[in-house]
Amino acid sequence: MKVLVVGSGGREHALCWKLRQSPHLTELYCAPGNPGIAEVADLVPIADDEIHQLADFAADLKIDLTVVGPELPLTLGLADELIGRGVAVFGPRQQAAELEGSKVFAKEFMRRHGIPTARFEIAHDAAEARAAAQRLGFPVVLKADGLAAGKGVLIPGDEAELEAALATFFDERRFGSAGDRVVVERCLSGEEVSFLALCDGEHLLPLPPCKDYKRLEDDDRGPNTGGMGAHSPSAVLSSGVGASIIERIMKPAVAGMAAENRPFAGVLYAGLMLTSEGPQVLEFNVRFGDPEAQPLLMRLEDDLLPVLVQGAQGRFETPRLRIRKAAAACVVLASRGYPQKPVKGEPIQGLEAARAHPGVEVFHAGTARAGAQLITAGGRVLGVCASGVQLLDALRRAYVAAAEIHWPSKILRRDVGRRVLERATGGSRA
Ligand code: AMP
Ligand code: GLY
Repeated sequence: MKVLVVGSGGREHALCWKLRQSPHLTELYCAPGNPGIAEVADLVPIADDEIHQLADFAADLKIDLTVVGPELPLTLGLADELIGRGVAVFGPRQQAAELEGSKVFAKEFMRRHGIPTARFEIAHDAAEARAAAQRLGFPVVLKADGLAAGKGVLIPGDEAELEAALATFFDERRFGSAGDRVVVERCLSGEEVSFLALCDGEHLLPLPPCKDYKRLEDDDRGPNTGGMGAHSPSAVLSSGVGASIIERIMKPAVAGMAAENRPFAGVLYAGLMLTSEGPQVLEFNVRFGDPEAQPLLMRLEDDLLPVLVQGAQGRFETPRLRIRKAAAACVVLASRGYPQKPVKGEPIQGLEAARAHPGVEVFHAGTARAGAQLITAGGRVLGVCASGVQLLDALRRAYVAAAEIHWPSKILRRDVGRRVLERATGGSRA
C-alpha cells in the first residue's frame, strides 16, 4: 500500500516510524516532513495547509491512504478534498473537524449531548464577557473560539487581570478572527489527562490514557506550550474512571457527531480534567496529540496501517487495540525562547549516542539539515522517547538518552513523570 502522511512534527515522525513497520506498506510519503522522517519516508515539498496540492499529489500517485497529522489541514477541509478525488483518508471531514476548529461549536455540542464540561457562556464583545465572568466567578477561563495553536486560553484571577485579558481579545485582537467569539467558562481544578481513541464514524478503539506536560517549566509553571513531555500510562487514572470516560464522554461524542450528520472518522482526543465531580472535557481535538502520539504509538502492538485503512473505510474489523504492557515516555527537547521566539540554526550533537540506548527512539520535530549537519529549526526540536517495563524505567531511559543530546539553547522539563510517580506509588493506575 502507498501511504501519504501529512505534517512535519514529532507526531508525524512517530506515525511514519510505526507505519514503516507494516508488512502491508510498499511506499511511504510525508508532506512536508523533516530530516528524521526522511530516514523512513520520501519527503514531498508541499506545506500541510496546501490542501489542493496535497490532494492533487495523492490522486496523481494513486495513494491508497492519507493520514493527516495536524488540525489545520483538517479544519481547512483536506479530508473532503481527498475524498472528492477518491483518495481514502484517516482524519475527519471539515464539518467533523469543527469539534476542534470552533470551541463554541464544541461547547454547544457537549451541552446538546450531555457530555460533562465546565459551565460556560459565549461572549461576542468585552461587555458580554465581563458580565459572564461576573456570573461564573473568578478565576475564570477565556478561550478564543478558533484555532490558536494552544495559546488561545487565558485564565484571569481577578477583575484587573480580566480587563487585561479582554483587551488582548477585543482591542489588540491577538487571536484575529479566531477571537471574534470567546467562550467564558468556569475554572476547573484537578489533574489533567489526555484520552485518545481511533474512530470510524461509528465505533471507537480507545488508546490507553496519556499524561501531557503542557507548561514550559517544571512544576507546571511558565506559558502553555504544545507539550513538553508525555507518558503512558498516565498514572493518574483508575481503570474504573477510564471506563466511565469511554461510556460518558467518548461514546456519546461519536454518537452525537453521527446523529448531527457529521460522522467522526479519525482520532478523537479529549483533553480532560479529573475533578471531584468526575472527568470533565476541557477540549476536543480531532487528531493525535503531539507529543502524546509518540509514547502512544510506541505502546501500540497492532499493525497501525490496516486499522487506519478500516477507519477510513468506516468499519473497524477489530473490537479493541492491542497495547503493550510496557510503559512509554517522551521528553521534549526545545530551544530557548520557545514558545514565543525560539533560537534556531544551532548544530545538534549526540543524536546517535542517544539512539543507541536500548528502548529509545528519537523523533524529530523542528530540525533541518545544513549540509551534513543537523541543526535546530523550530521551538520543539526533538522528542526523546523510551519504553520500559514500568513507567519509571521508561522515564529514566528517556532522561539518560536526552542527556546525550546537545545544542547551546537546548531546554527541557526535568519533572516529566516525577509528580505522578511520587503520588501513584502503591496504587494501580492506568
Ligand atoms: P484547551 O486548549 O481548551 O485545552 O486549554 C488549554 C489549557 O488551559 C488546558 O490544558 C488547561 O490547562 C487550561 N484550561 C482550559 N480550560 C480550563 C478550565 N475550564 N479550567 C481550568 N483550566 C482550563
Ligand atoms: N499535546 C497537546 C496537543 O497536541 O494538543
